[in-house]
Amino acid sequence: MAQVTPQVSRYHWVLVVLHWSLAFLILAALTLGALALVRIPSSDPMKIEALRTHMTGGIAILLLMLVRLSVRLRSARPPDADTGNPWLDRLAVASHRALYVAVLAQAAVGLTMGIETGVVALVLGGHPPIPDDFWVYPIRTLHYAISRVLMVLIALHVSGALYHTFIRKDGLLRRMWFGRRAVMAGPPAGAALRRPF
Ligand code: HEM
Ligand code: HEM
Repeated sequence: MAQVTPQVSRYHWVLVVLHWSLAFLILAALTLGALALVRIPSSDPMKIEALRTHMTGGIAILLLMLVRLSVRLRSARPPDADTGNPWLDRLAVASHRALYVAVLAQAAVGLTMGIETGVVALVLGGHPPIPDDFWVYPIRTLHYAISRVLMVLIALHVSGALYHTFIRKDGLLRRMWFGRRAVMAGPPAGAALRRPF
């Protein structure tokens, strides 16, 4: 039997909650990581608190992203946004995928670095020694590089949201907010719904 995806006017409310909570957590991890954590020397007792907070937030981001991906794959969502320019439309789809990949990679690489250097034990209340310099571990450079890719992707993403909101004035932000979720085109009678909610 043919499987049909119903189209709705907004994202599922669970995805809305996850989108804005993750946006907050990711922006905090990026700004505090790049502007504060990295500047605190390992000899400063503050480093322990900063690392613990950063790693706890990073692990939360990893888990919430996995929940988000799973809900995203099972729930109905609005049709791809239209800018009137097919290249921009493709860029939007590609950048959304790249955001998922970059966030998951950054969190996984961070976790691997935490395990490799032993500092992840701080999250569990342990008292491991803090390396004098994380940069001697090659994975530190990878964590840095992905953080910069993420900053560029987020800047592009926010520019896209502003373009839709202020230039095209198509109310795109409403799709990522709460409200009645209208079904825009129902499936043909008898068709099985692949995405049940
Ligand atoms: C760390 C920051 C952010 C990340 C990682 C992020 C990630 C994403 C991703 C992956 C999607 C695609 C949703 C999907 O189809 O699964 C999305 C959608 C969206 N985001 Fe963000 N986002 C961030 C911040 C923001 C901000 C600050 C804004 C507003 C200024 C915003 C506005 C939107 C809107 C309006 C959509 C829906 C687009 C559509 O309906 O096609 N996002 N976001
Ligand atoms: C998406 C989630 C994450 C983001 C956005 C993020 C972001 C960052 C940023 C921006 C830096 C500083 C990079 C620089 O400017 O040189 C950093 C450093 C670091 N991160 Fe993450 N991170 C994330 C997840 C994690 C996780 C899950 C862990 C470990 C469990 C972790 C462990 C570290 C460590 C050990 C450092 C090095 C600190 C130093 O050099 O003093 N990160 N992170």
